[in-house]
Amino acid sequence: MNGAIPVIAIDGPSASGKGTVAALVARELGFHYLDSGAIYRVAAHAAARAGVALDDEAALASLARALDLRFDGIEVYLDGQPVGDAIRTEDAGRAASRIAALPDVRAALLDLQRDFRRPPGLVTDGRDMGSVVFPDARVKVFLTASAEERAKRRYKQLIEKGFDANLAALFQDLTERDARDAARASAPLKQAADALLLDTTGLSIDQAVFFVIDAYRAAA
Ligand code: C5P
Repeated sequence: MNGAIPVIAIDGPSASGKGTVAALVARELGFHYLDSGAIYRVAAHAAARAGVALDDEAALASLARALDLRFDGIEVYLDGQPVGDAIRTEDAGRAASRIAALPDVRAALLDLQRDFRRPPGLVTDGRDMGSVVFPDARVKVFLTASAEERAKRRYKQLIEKGFDANLAALFQDLTERDARDAARASAPLKQAADALLLDTTGLSIDQAVFFVIDAYRAAA
C-alpha cells in the first residue's frame, strides 16, 4: 500500500485557479503534481481521434483503460505525440466534461490517476480527488471563486497563450460545465465534508498557495 505517501487534493470548479495553485504547492514542497482534468481531456481527445462517439460509454471506457498518456513538465503526450495545445481549448473542456459524466469512464481512469501517488508526495487537482480518487488525502481543499472572476481568469489565460477568447461566451461555457459537473450522479463536483473551503475571489495566487501549505503543515 502507498497510503503513507501524502496527498494534497485540491478540487473545485473550472478556472478556479486550482491547477496553478496545485502546481505551485507541488513545486514548493518538492512533490509530484497531477492535473487530473488533463487526463479527461486527453481521453476525450483520443476518442475524437479514434472516431468514438462521446456517448458510447463501453467504447470510451475501453479506450480510457488503454490510454497511453505521459506528462513531461507542462506538456502532455498521447501515444507519444504532444497534445497540450489541442486539449486546452474550450471545446476540449466541454468534451472532457461529457465523457467525465460516464461512470465506466471514471472507473477506467482510477488506477491511472492513483499511479501518480509516489514518494515524497503528490499534489493533485480536479473534481473528485479528495472524495473518490484519494479519499485518504492528508489535506483536502475545495478551491473556488465567483463565476465572473473565473471567466475573467480563463479569458486572460487564453489571450496570454495567443488564443481567441470572448468573455461572455466563456462565462456561459463555465457555468454550463459547472452545472453538468455538479449535476452528474457519478462523482459530482461538490465540496467534500472533510475539505477546507478556499474562496479565492480577491485573493492572490500566493495567498492561496500559502493557505494550502499552511493546512498541509498543520495536518502533517
Ligand atoms: O479541470 P479541467 O477543466 O481541465 O477538467 C475538464 C473536465 O474534466 C471537467 O469539466 C470535468 O468534467 C472533468 N473532470 C472530472 N474529474 C476530475 C477532473 C476533471 O470529472 N477529477
